[in-house]
Amino acid sequence: MATRKKIALIGAGNIGGELANLVVSKQLGDVVLFDIPAKENFAKGKALDLEQNSAIHGFDASILGTSKWSDCAGADVLIVTAGIPRKPGQSRDDLIATNLPIIRDVADNAKAHCPNAFVIVISNPLDAMVYEFKRRTDFPKERVVGMAGVLDSGRFQLFLARAAGVSVKDVRATVLGGHGDDMVPVLSATTINGLPVSQLVPAETIAGIIDRTRKGGGEIVGLMGTSAFYAPASSAIAMAEAYLLDQKRLLPCAAFLTGEYGYSDMYMGVPVVIGGKGVERIVQVVLSPEEKTMLDKSAKSVQSIVDVVKKN
Ligand code: APR
Repeated sequence: MATRKKIALIGAGNIGGELANLVVSKQLGDVVLFDIPAKENFAKGKALDLEQNSAIHGFDASILGTSKWSDCAGADVLIVTAGIPRKPGQSRDDLIATNLPIIRDVADNAKAHCPNAFVIVISNPLDAMVYEFKRRTDFPKERVVGMAGVLDSGRFQLFLARAAGVSVKDVRATVLGGHGDDMVPVLSATTINGLPVSQLVPAETIAGIIDRTRKGGGEIVGLMGTSAFYAPASSAIAMAEAYLLDQKRLLPCAAFLTGEYGYSDMYMGVPVVIGGKGVERIVQVVLSPEEKTMLDKSAKSVQSIVDVVKKN
């Protein structure tokens, strides 16, 4: 008997709600929208609101709001947004004290109830949270991945498209490294439909765009008073879809490194192939010396926050 896939969303806040919306509109499976007991009614209300869309949009998937982990049992995909988002003036790293106990709680329950799920972590500080999730659950590295690079690359692509006066569909770019202010846009591989971006956008404009991309999350926090949620949710759904539909997409994601690019025992943004087996491989490309220097700097920042996680 065929059954629908089950997608458990841990955290029913801004990103969680948008994730649920995308899962059902793309008909990827049934949704469990989980939050803490104090937010159970909120999760139930959001689930009901979204489920009522089914009559209008014409999808059959169900959305269950809950605060019971048993409802998440057997999930095929788990997307974790549990935690507190940034407020204006905060860095992602400032969230570590609040979000570390939360990710540990989520990891323990995920291990108990969803031992076979493909897990996408979104909670910040991303590279540290996904590292801790993997360490705590001891899930295989193929099944635990962090969402950052798809979003950072999306921001970069949009800004370049606007500057070049071309469709965003034609801009291809990859942003690697940690999900922080020293992330690494791989300029040597950035093209507008195969043409080098450096020939279409002036160097100083590109420099400004790199800076804006690095601070892209903060720009939105400054405007809204809380983190972005539409593009982060779409980015995680692209990853979930690649897994569920075995698409073998090559996407920049935070992956567990065991020597790739010269780094070990850490999560950081690198190009990966996501398919039906999860993170099927990490793709190693040759970076320019400047890009490698930037990646080293980013890795150092990630390592320092991972060290905090290991000590606490
Ligand atoms: N288990 C499950 N959910 C939890 C837990 C927990 N232990 N602790 C907190 N939550 C829930 C909160 O109750 C809240 O509903 O996580 C939800 C987070 O939702 P929002 O506050 O709306 O935050 P959101 O914008 O969705 O961002 C979530 O993603 O991008 C990151 O920096 C962002 O870390 C933040 C996370």
